[in-house]
Amino acid sequence: MPERTHYSFHLNASNYHELYAQSVADSSVFWAEQAAMLGWHTPFHTVKNTSFAPDDVHIKWFEGGALNVAENCVDRHAAATSDKIAIIWEADDPETPSQSITYLQLQQRVNRAATMLKNLGVVAGDRVTIYMPMIPEAAIAMLACARIGAVHSVVFGGFSPASLRQRIDDCDSRMVITADEGLRGGKHIALKANVDEACKGSAVEKVIVVKHTGGAVNWNDGRDVWWHEFEHCHPALVAESPSSSARLSPLSRGQAYEDGVTENEALDYFDSEHPLFILYTSGSTGTPKGLLHTSAGYLLYAMHTFLNVFDYRQSDVFWCTADVGWITGHSYMVYGPLAAGATLLMFEGVPTYPDASRFWQVVDKHKVTIFYTAPTALRMLLREGDAWLATTSRKSLRVLGSVGEPINPEAWRWYHDEVGRGACSIVDTWWQTETGGHLITPLPSTPHKKAGAAMNPYVGVRPAIVGGDGAAIDGVAEGALCIADSWPGQARTIWNDHARFVETYFKPYPNYYFSGDAARRDADGHYWIEGRMDDVVNVSGHRLGTAEIESALVEHVLVTEAAVVGFPHEIKGQGIYAFVTLLPGAVLDDVIRKELNALVRKIIGAVAHVDVMQDAPALPKTRSGKIMRRILRKIAGGEIQSKADYEKLGDISTLLNPESVDALVAGWIH
Ligand code: WTA
Repeated sequence: MPERTHYSFHLNASNYHELYAQSVADSSVFWAEQAAMLGWHTPFHTVKNTSFAPDDVHIKWFEGGALNVAENCVDRHAAATSDKIAIIWEADDPETPSQSITYLQLQQRVNRAATMLKNLGVVAGDRVTIYMPMIPEAAIAMLACARIGAVHSVVFGGFSPASLRQRIDDCDSRMVITADEGLRGGKHIALKANVDEACKGSAVEKVIVVKHTGGAVNWNDGRDVWWHEFEHCHPALVAESPSSSARLSPLSRGQAYEDGVTENEALDYFDSEHPLFILYTSGSTGTPKGLLHTSAGYLLYAMHTFLNVFDYRQSDVFWCTADVGWITGHSYMVYGPLAAGATLLMFEGVPTYPDASRFWQVVDKHKVTIFYTAPTALRMLLREGDAWLATTSRKSLRVLGSVGEPINPEAWRWYHDEVGRGACSIVDTWWQTETGGHLITPLPSTPHKKAGAAMNPYVGVRPAIVGGDGAAIDGVAEGALCIADSWPGQARTIWNDHARFVETYFKPYPNYYFSGDAARRDADGHYWIEGRMDDVVNVSGHRLGTAEIESALVEHVLVTEAAVVGFPHEIKGQGIYAFVTLLPGAVLDDVIRKELNALVRKIIGAVAHVDVMQDAPALPKTRSGKIMRRILRKIAGGEIQSKADYEKLGDISTLLNPESVDALVAGWIH
């Protein structure tokens, strides 16, 4: 076992400028030193081998090195701080007792789950799809994959069977890990049934099912196995009796194994660049992209940012409310905190169940010190009123984080003044699925924070604001937010499609990574994120591609064309607005509206819902037939209400059908 290294680097507002300057002066030297916080089996020989040149994009960190990600997250803490709580699990229903898993118990469970995967035929490099509720087994499944070098692909439980299938097929995954059902706000989510539908006719050979609610499931003998049967059994027993009819009673979570079986098989070590996981995310066009993250660099970056951006201390209880199906749930609910040996809280439910005080009840109950959530949740709770805060003290809180979308000043102030009682620091962290961890963020000790500003680049990160001509603009600037050099947590490629990776992120502004966001730099040098420049909408912090929603809408027999844009939404940040062209004679009434939303739900999942649908006799197009979404965004946002506002649209006379705009402005729905 590699030695547990002591962590000495401590970034704060007083040393930030000096350390930042050092970190970018020679990022290889900087990250080589920082890499000592991981436990290595084999030391690396080359720190950084990266290029953003459009004809040669490659990103490699710590080549020659080998480690085991799960050992770093679990085993080394099980050895050093065995009784420390790794995971506190809080159920959807407050009456259900919470559970605590120590690092030693986590080690046993991850080991057993890893053995289970091996016994079911998974080998290093295989892809395993995880479609789970927020229960400890979700993290255990991810770590079990990491332990044996399998590549996990977690799919958010709010995606439909069709979306799940697309993601299974894209990475040719032969195994799915799921649960009978999930629970959210008292509602049962039929995860196993969704998996059954998704797997019909697919190449999936095994489905592992966690018995969570005990709800009825259909069973596919030969394909389906209960997690508890396999996790509980010694490998030798598993080999003899894999029968699904002999159901064992499930182990209660956190219970230590008392059968005396230890199966500490030899641990394998993997190359720094061994694939760790694929995570699908939406882009402007086409199907979701499977971003690939690899082992050492990703883990180091997740751990490093976790420690510094949240000012982590050994006694902290860290709660990130993100679902494990998103990147935040990977980097700051599993890998970052566990690599640091922290105690993390995992919550299955929703902020408003059984009432709008739930978050704060949970904070008090478990003495949460660091809380990390999305502005959407804050806006939703803010609207419910301060009475829901009054029954709780929230005195344990020290650092409050925000992620996923711009935080509006009102929500920021409520978070700071009311939730944090004016006594906590707020860190508004800007980053993406592609970046693996925080890129631009204040630190808890950063003075004079500006509500809604992402503030400063993290150490080792070189942001640039690039103008339309492809040149970086110094000083006060507004433009495309790009990054000039690689950092260890960066996604390496798109699974099976490196050309698309290059095209999407490195072609728009040569020699830069293009984030897809616009940003501005103020006179103090601080960064403000202004939102997406592409056709991606950010609904309640969930990233959705407008093209995907459009293709779902046109599946309806009466729809000939559809254009989807985002519009400002009080709670969700952005809502979805669809301009829909129907066959001649058809009317966009409530029945069709319902059918269309049912279709979107079926094809994409509950995560996507069209808020407003407007009948569009025709869509404004260029002479080459391109839909002018820029115009539609302005109409949907209510910026164009009369002819006097038309100047905001620019020159529309060159459109193929300028007259189409009048009808859309007249039909605007607010
Ligand atoms: C947006 C989520 C403003 C941004 C971690 C980015 C933000 C997209 C912030 C990535 C923030 C994320 N302020 N906007 N603090 N954090 N975004 O991949 O548009 O789900 O490009 O990763 O969310 O979403 P993703």
